[in-house]
Amino acid sequence: MKALILVGGFGTRLRPLTLSVPKPLVDFANKPMILHQIEALKAIGVTEVVLAINYQPEVMLNFLKDFEAKLEIKITCSQETEPLGTAGPLALARDKLIDDSGEPFFVLNSDVISEYPLKEMIAFHKSHGGEASIMVTKVDEPSKYGVVVMEESTGQVERFVEKPKLFVGNKINAGIYLLNPSVLDRIELRPTSIEKEVFPKIASEKKLYAMVLPGFWMDIGQPRDYITGLRLYLDSLRKKSSPKLASGTHIIGNVLVDESAKIGEGCLIGPDVAIGPGCVVESGVRLSRCTVMRGVRIKKHACISSSIIGWHSTVGQWARVENMTILGEDVHVGDEIYSNGGVVLPHKEIKSSILKPEIVM
Ligand code: GDD
Ligand code: MG
Repeated sequence: MKALILVGGFGTRLRPLTLSVPKPLVDFANKPMILHQIEALKAIGVTEVVLAINYQPEVMLNFLKDFEAKLEIKITCSQETEPLGTAGPLALARDKLIDDSGEPFFVLNSDVISEYPLKEMIAFHKSHGGEASIMVTKVDEPSKYGVVVMEESTGQVERFVEKPKLFVGNKINAGIYLLNPSVLDRIELRPTSIEKEVFPKIASEKKLYAMVLPGFWMDIGQPRDYITGLRLYLDSLRKKSSPKLASGTHIIGNVLVDESAKIGEGCLIGPDVAIGPGCVVESGVRLSRCTVMRGVRIKKHACISSSIIGWHSTVGQWARVENMTILGEDVHVGDEIYSNGGVVLPHKEIKSSILKPEIVM
């Protein structure tokens, strides 16, 4: 089986992290987002993944080269010269997606995280005999997503409305599709939206089916949702009694600590924290609801909550970092500094406190 991941876009909503790497390579729970997806695809028998990309394909391919071998999966790029939206890239990659088998293929948005119940999706797709299957999930704020109205018992989609202004329903498109090759015949090679142009048409012909996604789901393309997504992800590890979760008297709730990270005496860590490879957390540090990426040093008695600390940054002793502070790569926060929601560009040194949420250039 094959799969296409919609990688495009500049990831502006995840800046400053995406100033260092393309969005799919931003770490989530100690692993680049896209690896969560590629591993899930591999696990259900996908042999080839096509990355639909519109900038910096070399960066992605170089990074993924190691994993191609390790995971024994073929990874190729289909590069657009202009952004083709969410459907155009499928037309562009047509030859890569179609083979003699006539099998359906997966399409994934690159910024969604879930337990990827892809096996269940294949079974669902076979059971209804329609042309396309999509996963849906319930959310409180449907207006920022694609809303799906479906016949509950069969899953047949009656309407698909992208980012509705008026309330249509609370089941939304989770950005995970399984499509028959015939769907490609519906898509022209031009900038076009699968949500606005393709799905409404298939739904009107009663050939689009939706399956309610079991387990958690989150679009982690924005800092606040990223931090919520980490909580949900760790919670699902807990439900599975995953051995990956840390334990000890200094751990509260669900915490991931890479085995190469060092944690000092008297720290209190959790809930909902991920500490990446090579990090050094000195003594007396307090961490909650945050992500600390590879190579970060957090000095004595610093306190970090609801924030993301980018690769190779340092946080000074007795510093307090909170309220959606996002430090880009290689940022250095001085001793005793306070950051209230600072968004700090890569390679900066912070010598005075950031008292209200603002971008520090
Ligand atoms: N190759 C390529 N080219 N990919 C693109 C392009 C493009 O021109 N534009 C967007 N993408 C990719 C994005 O990188 C992302 O992986 C996916 O397509 C969806 O784009 P987003 O910009 O993240 O859309 P959204 O989050 O506002 O809405 C989409 O996702 C929601 C779920 O998170 C829609 O699919 C909604 O219907 C859905 O509910
Ligand atoms: Mg998105």
